[in-house]
Amino acid sequence: MTAYTQLQSRLQSESYTWLITGVAGFIGSNLLETLLKLHQRVQGLDNFATGHQCNLDEVQSLVTPSQWTNFSFINGDIRNLSDCQKACEGVEYVLHQAALGSVPRSVADPIASSATNINGFLNMLVAARDAKKVKRFVYAASSSTYGDHPVLPKVENKIGNPLSPYAVTKYVNELYADVFGKTYGLQSIGLRYFNVFGPRQDPDGAYTAVIPKWISSMLKGEPIYINGDGETSRDFCFVDNAVQANLLAAMADNFEAVNQVYNVAVGDRTTLNKLFHIIHDTLHNTLIANESRQFITKSPTYREFREGDVRHSQADIGKAKRLLGYAPNHCIELGIELAAPWYVR
Ligand SMILES: NC(=O)c1ccc[n+]([C@@H]2O[C@H](COP(=O)([O-])OP(=O)(O)OC[C@H]3O[C@@H](n4cnc5c(N)ncnc54)[C@H](O)[C@@H]3O)[C@@H](O)[C@H]2O)c1
Repeated sequence: MTAYTQLQSRLQSESYTWLITGVAGFIGSNLLETLLKLHQRVQGLDNFATGHQCNLDEVQSLVTPSQWTNFSFINGDIRNLSDCQKACEGVEYVLHQAALGSVPRSVADPIASSATNINGFLNMLVAARDAKKVKRFVYAASSSTYGDHPVLPKVENKIGNPLSPYAVTKYVNELYADVFGKTYGLQSIGLRYFNVFGPRQDPDGAYTAVIPKWISSMLKGEPIYINGDGETSRDFCFVDNAVQANLLAAMADNFEAVNQVYNVAVGDRTTLNKLFHIIHDTLHNTLIANESRQFITKSPTYREFREGDVRHSQADIGKAKRLLGYAPNHCIELGIELAAPWYVR
């Protein structure tokens, strides 16, 4: 039995109150679905900056009516301290996901990214510190914090200089969380996500991540662009692995595990060329008996390398395994197989 299966069976019989910020977003709504299915009480906060009501509606359709009554939603903004204070009322575990994601978005508008990702983060820390019942503050950090550090695989204590405003904001989160631990005794855990993907990740918009963008384009028979030679690689992490890491981090009871940051990934590396083929073959199989199968984009179009893109990224997940009992159970192929039907629908 893994630490996660043990935790899941424990949560089936013990009910806690959780706050998920960014609950209408991709990772937030997946956390919501899992926690409600485990009979937990959840408060959600979102301002729909990049999240969608349809994500919440979909979760409602996937849980029982009585599980859904355990969810309460606040339409609010982490840039307002009073919204954060309201959201933290009565909460025991905070899973802070709300942020403006995307490196290019932060390059286009660093002020907006900073307002949400730094000021909003600080508001959430203050609100969690002052709320009477909060036991742990788990937050979405990012692999972008490794910046220009060349060594692979990435180990938590060896970071380089940030390469984007987004990376600065996520690193500042770690610094603030650490200081709040030392100064006020707030227990936190930062999760450095590496390219998370899965159902409900937005396929539309200027700042879409590669997997939803490619699945969506491929289904429409649109060109798929690969920046560079396609040998650029990433540690793609299915969202269930990220959910697992959040729950383990929230409930970890060994002292050593707290006030730390952890890589959340699979510990593997997939090139863009291979990713193209995995998505292509999976969609082909998913659409078996479906006429639209013939329209799927058959080969990628190569163009210039994108400036600032890191060539390879791969996580060492040893620390999360050791201290949290994290054991990712979805490789990229399985993750794409599970995500594909959602995009097809
Ligand atoms: N998806 C990834 O691969 C990845 C990688 C590294 C880090 N992260 C981090 O994980 C977190 C979740 O990312 P995601 O992929 O689910 O993105 P997402 O855009 O789907 O979700 C973010 C959510 O936060 C909400 N939000 C934004 N600004 C807000 C504000 N001011 N007040 C309240 N809510 C606000 C959005 O409306 C959205 O619902 C983010 O902190 C992101 O930076 C994600």
